[in-house]
Amino acid sequence: MAVKLYHGDIVYTPSADALAVYENSYIAVDSGKVEGIYPVIPEKYKHAECIDYGRQMIIPAFSDLHVHGSQYVQRGIGMDCLLSNWLNHYTFPQEAGFKDLSYAKKCYDAFVDDMICHGTFHANVFGTIHREATDYLFRKMEEKGMYGFVGKVNMDCNSPEFLIETTEDSLRETEIYLDSHTGSGKVKPILAPRFAPTCSEKLMTGLGKLAAKYHCGVHTHLVESIWEAEEALRCFPGYHSDAEIYERAGLMDHGPSIFAHVIFPTEEDKRIMKKHGSFSVHCPDATTNIIAGIMPLAAMHDEELKIAIGSDVAGGHSIAIYKQIARAVQLSKLKEFYEPDQSQTITLTQAFYHATKEAGSVFGKVGSFEKGYQFNALVIDTMEDSWVPLTAEERLERFCYIGDDRNIRARFIDGKEIHFEN
Ligand code: GUN
Ligand code: FE
Repeated sequence: MAVKLYHGDIVYTPSADALAVYENSYIAVDSGKVEGIYPVIPEKYKHAECIDYGRQMIIPAFSDLHVHGSQYVQRGIGMDCLLSNWLNHYTFPQEAGFKDLSYAKKCYDAFVDDMICHGTFHANVFGTIHREATDYLFRKMEEKGMYGFVGKVNMDCNSPEFLIETTEDSLRETEIYLDSHTGSGKVKPILAPRFAPTCSEKLMTGLGKLAAKYHCGVHTHLVESIWEAEEALRCFPGYHSDAEIYERAGLMDHGPSIFAHVIFPTEEDKRIMKKHGSFSVHCPDATTNIIAGIMPLAAMHDEELKIAIGSDVAGGHSIAIYKQIARAVQLSKLKEFYEPDQSQTITLTQAFYHATKEAGSVFGKVGSFEKGYQFNALVIDTMEDSWVPLTAEERLERFCYIGDDRNIRARFIDGKEIHFEN
């Protein structure tokens, strides 16, 4: 692939507190990777093709580190429930439908298209307990060129009879699933025990053995509500923290460990997550819809825990990660109001960093525009009222607060433009 140049206002976050802004500049892309950013076209590239986006912004594509593809059709429904009721009344009956592959295909086709439409090119996705449907999701994401982790869900206890597996079936189906995805593609399998209350100790231990055999990581929900944290320890007597359940099962040693919500972490949870370099995924919409708690993001970042952002569709009602960036800032203010003894607020730059470079690090070199990163990028229109000029920083903030997919004017994965009608 020859070097290609893209001109625009180039914005990314090389670190949590640094917004790199190169207005009116050129980003050079060689074989799908960022080669450099230049204020004028360098001599060596004077014959290279150049696409001019004027003063539109070029930003890294987003990563969603916690989303349920299987709940896409539930968006915005049951939002007046809390977690346990929401699972029992809406989610479990709906997910049971995925045993019908034709239903699953419709849901997953729409889900994957909508992620790409909203600029999420890297995602860590929960399927359901149904292997065939989860296989379809995996291949769909592959076919679209996405980066991802996809998990077949495990549930062998405390679940309704229409959405439960025996321990043996759960482990056998999971192993078949792992066996059929051993390639070195951009989409990889991950283990997905739903959460401690619906998984027996025998199942967790069995999954730990599969983690070692197939070198894969784990994706689950951790200390997501006071109810869940209490249930986890009630179901696992002799354990002292939710994270210990996954650590003792050997689920955190062979790949990434990605924990959704992490709203009420104990010191022990944090010690275990830090030791294993785990990600805690902040899902602001879901937190306010069905969970009623706010992750102590600022404090956890100060303690050098890895933080990512997730849509948690359909606990969250919006697939757009840029909206979650804005809501993460909003929720940090609320937390500061109710718990002012500790600094809780975060900046837009910090939230953007967690949703791009930090979250992206689990997939490889995506989420930034430093040299060598994949050119996985979005072109965002100017977001200005024509008579009031804004800085690039202000335009990025405005996109996160009031933008939508119509403001995304072009999409690139590995340097290739994806043509998408919106
Ligand atoms: N805990 C267990 N299952 C779920 C789920 O589907 N969504 C959320 N947000 N939390 C869960
Ligand atoms: Fe979830």
